[in-house]
Amino acid sequence: MKEQDLKKMLRFIFILGSLAMLLVISMIVGTMLIQQHPEWLHALKENHSSKNNISNQQENEPNEEVEWTPEALEAVGLVEGEGLQLVLTHCTNCHSAKLITQNRFTKEGWIQVIRWMQATQGLWELGDAEAEIVTYLSKHFAPEARGRRIPLEVEWYDL
Ligand code: HEC
Repeated sequence: MKEQDLKKMLRFIFILGSLAMLLVISMIVGTMLIQQHPEWLHALKENHSSKNNISNQQENEPNEEVEWTPEALEAVGLVEGEGLQLVLTHCTNCHSAKLITQNRFTKEGWIQVIRWMQATQGLWELGDAEAEIVTYLSKHFAPEARGRRIPLEVEWYDL
């Protein structure tokens, strides 16, 4: 009788100890993980506290007016001209401007690209800006301009 009680108690203590150890281990592992991935914590907080801020995510609205240095423009192949600022505002959030400058389209072609992005990629309505953007693009990145564009600088890799 007594021995059985003792066994019961020992088993109870053993289980309790195991649970406590499991808790400590998971706390240590959790701390280590969060230290290595602090962004997880941010994601958690943001999901939790700011459901209304979804529209502030960078990809869902135009850029603030940003200053691009001439070097930065040259690096992506954009040229100065009327409409450039609108392109920087509306077209550089989701992908590199290089995706724009490596393409050549007519006016209709550029409009089609914009419609496609609006239909499938979450591009917003451009309103009055659209005409100016399309004019800029079809002027500087037109199919027939191919021979006159700035030569591409190609970096060759040793294979
Ligand atoms: C809301 C996000 C978003 C914005 C803003 C955006 N695009 Fe795009 N665009 C995309 C996505 C996504 C793709 C596909 C990228 C890929 O294939 O890797 C794309 C692809 C492109 C392509 C390549 C199309 C092709 O046929 O390969 C061009 C050119 C382009 N965008 C131009 C523009 C221009 C010009 C603007 C400004 C009016 C713009 N993008 C703004 C999301 C966007």
